Amino acid sequence: MRVILCYIVFLIGMGGIAMADDKPNIVILATGGTIAGSTTSHIETTGYKAGVLSVNSLIQAVPEITNLANIQAEQISNIDSADMTDEIWLTLAKRINILLESNNVDGIVITHGTDTMEETAFFLHLVTKSTKPVVLTGAMRPSSAMSADGPKNLYNAVALASSKNANNKGVMIVMNDRIQSARYATKIHTLNTDSFQSLTSGDMGYIIDGAVYFNFTPVPPHTTKSIFRVDNLNTLPKVDILYSYSNDGLGVAAKALFQSKVKGIVVAGSGAGSIHVFQKKILKDLMQQGLIVVQSSRVGSGIVLANQEDSKIGFIGAKDLNPQKARVLLMLGLTKTNDFRKINTFFKQY
Ligand code: SIN
Repeated sequence: MRVILCYIVFLIGMGGIAMADDKPNIVILATGGTIAGSTTSHIETTGYKAGVLSVNSLIQAVPEITNLANIQAEQISNIDSADMTDEIWLTLAKRINILLESNNVDGIVITHGTDTMEETAFFLHLVTKSTKPVVLTGAMRPSSAMSADGPKNLYNAVALASSKNANNKGVMIVMNDRIQSARYATKIHTLNTDSFQSLTSGDMGYIIDGAVYFNFTPVPPHTTKSIFRVDNLNTLPKVDILYSYSNDGLGVAAKALFQSKVKGIVVAGSGAGSIHVFQKKILKDLMQQGLIVVQSSRVGSGIVLANQEDSKIGFIGAKDLNPQKARVLLMLGLTKTNDFRKINTFFKQY
């Protein structure tokens, strides 16, 4: 009896994470999104407000997750992910690094809006420093909707973060039973529940009834193997995205961005990264003044390589990173150097 009593006191002393069983200890960090969205109608899947329910409400909707793991939760923000900020990214990344250093935490689940989930995921893939699993999930339908997808996605995310096989895989996204690498996943549909795909790599794995199956491990360096860190950062370099289109001859946006002190521009070029000849001329002038320019593509899949002549003067090919992900890598590259040659090596490597 006395032994049992001492053990209970020990558990309370561990700050709430139960150690009484061999279930993994998972921390859910909530940031908002449709998974925390709600409206009065069961029919509506648009026109609701994202980021209104607390993390505790999300957990209460899926009591089965406590069979998988001991759960702790923190509310980092409660926003529509379209409004994501560098400040929240840095807070989230630093918090994950602190939590995963503890022997009492085995994995992290982040609930997030789907609109910019791929950007946050790729950022965390490059700056979190642990081999333990970090998994992002969300929902395409608000919690109030008939057939809401949030509860199953949250269950799957906890199952994945609890899996021993999920170590050393980098940051992952789980939506609609698919496991995708933060390196490759992108949102490909505005409303469908099957809205995330990895067009160049395919799914990293899948989850069926809580069981985790992997197909591959991503090769480009991430987490502990990535050189990018957030420990000493309070801000991130300013980088913008410029869309390329027919008759884009004036270069007004490029000049305005440079005047507003952006350090880098990612061009969402046409086809394999082509930039309108007039816009390119203006970018070349700005590159002479220190602007770093990365060429990606608005197409949505495939590889962009700068041609030999353009590489010599500083154009950097984004490879298979879409514009929003190339922007993340360029921001992190600029935390290390302003030299386009070095930044080019980051794009070859990561
Ligand atoms: C958001 O990104 O916060 C809203 C949309 C969504 O989560 O699907």
